[in-house]
Amino acid sequence: MILSTERLLPDAHGYSRAAEILRDGGRVAFPTETVYGLGGDARNDRAVAGIFEAKGRPRFNPLIVHVDSAEAARAYVEWSEGAERLAGAFWPGPLTMVLPLKPGTRLSPLVTAELPTLAIRVPAHPVAQALLHTFGGPVAAPSANPSGRISPTSAAHVLAGLDGRIEAVLDGGTCDVGVESTILGLVDGPVLLRPGGIAVEEIEAVIGNRVARHTDGDAISAPGQLASHYAPGAIVRLNATTRQEGELLLGFGTVDCDLNLSPTGDLREAAANLFGHLHRLDAQGAKAIAVSPIPDTGLGQAINDRLRRAAAPRPGPAQP
Ligand code: TXA
Ligand code: MG
Repeated sequence: MILSTERLLPDAHGYSRAAEILRDGGRVAFPTETVYGLGGDARNDRAVAGIFEAKGRPRFNPLIVHVDSAEAARAYVEWSEGAERLAGAFWPGPLTMVLPLKPGTRLSPLVTAELPTLAIRVPAHPVAQALLHTFGGPVAAPSANPSGRISPTSAAHVLAGLDGRIEAVLDGGTCDVGVESTILGLVDGPVLLRPGGIAVEEIEAVIGNRVARHTDGDAISAPGQLASHYAPGAIVRLNATTRQEGELLLGFGTVDCDLNLSPTGDLREAAANLFGHLHRLDAQGAKAIAVSPIPDTGLGQAINDRLRRAAAPRPGPAQP
C-alpha cells in the first residue's frame, strides 16, 4: 500500500501530530543526534510489525527502545550501579545499554525478538526529546533506512528510502554525530556490541573497568542475532495444509485452524501476532504445531525466517 508520508516540522503542531500517529500505531521517522530513527510505539505489535514491513527487513532483529529519561528507562530494564553511572555520564546521548528486561513490561515481543534483554537509550537530540516527551511512551526505532542501505542523517535521506512506506517524517535538520550509538552489553560484564558515537575508552574511564571487545568472526559480530533462537516447546512443522494427529494448526488466510495469524491473509497482522500466537499454542500444551504456508514476500520473509528457526532440529536432549 502506498501512503502519503506527512512532512512534519518540529513545532507544536508537528509534535502533537507525530505523537497522535504513534498512538494510532503508525510510524514516524525522527532525528536523533546519531541518525534518523523509524519510530513506532514499542508496546504495539502492529506498530512494530509495521517498522519491519517498511524497512523490508528479512528477519526480526531486536530493536532499540528510546525513552526520554533514565527514570523512564528504569521501568523496562533491571537497573544496576553500572547502568546508573553510565546513564549519569552519557545520557542523554549516543549510548545504548543492553540490560536484562524487566518482567511484565508489556513491550511487544517483536521489539526484543524474545531475548531476555532490552537495548535502551535516551537520545539527546532536542527534537527526539520533545517527541518522546509529547508521546509519553517507549518508542522502538531502528535506523530509518530500507534494509541493506546506509543510515539516514537528514529527512531527505529518509524520504529517498521510505517515502510512501511510512506515515510521517519529522524534519529536524541534519544529525550531528552521523554514526549510530555505541551499544554496550551489561548483562555479563561490559561488552562492546557495536562501536558508535561514544568511544569505548570514554566508557572505560567512567566504569573503571576494561570493556570486552568482539572481534570480527566472533559470534556476536551481529549484535542481537545470537540468542534470538527461541523455539516453542512444541515441534513445529511448516507449510502444512492439514492437521496431523496430535497437532494444533496455526493458520494463515481462510483455513480451519486452532489459531489464525491473519484470517484475511494480511502479512503485517500475521507478523504482529506471530510470537504471541506461538506462545499461546505452547501454553495450550501443544506437542506439535503445524503452520500454514506463508507467502515469502515482504514481511512474509521475516515471518518465514523466524518459523524456519523454530522448526529447525533442536540441539541436545530435551530439558527435563
Ligand atoms: O543510533 C542508533 O542506535 C540508531 C538511532 C535511531 O537510535 N538506531 C539504530 O538501530 O542504529 P538499528 O536497529 O539500526 O540497530 C540496532 C542494533 C541491531 O544491530 C540489533 O541487533 C541490536 O541493536 N540490538 C537490539 N537489541 C539488542 C539486544 N537485546 N541485545 C543485543 N543487541 C541488540
Ligand atoms: Mg541500522
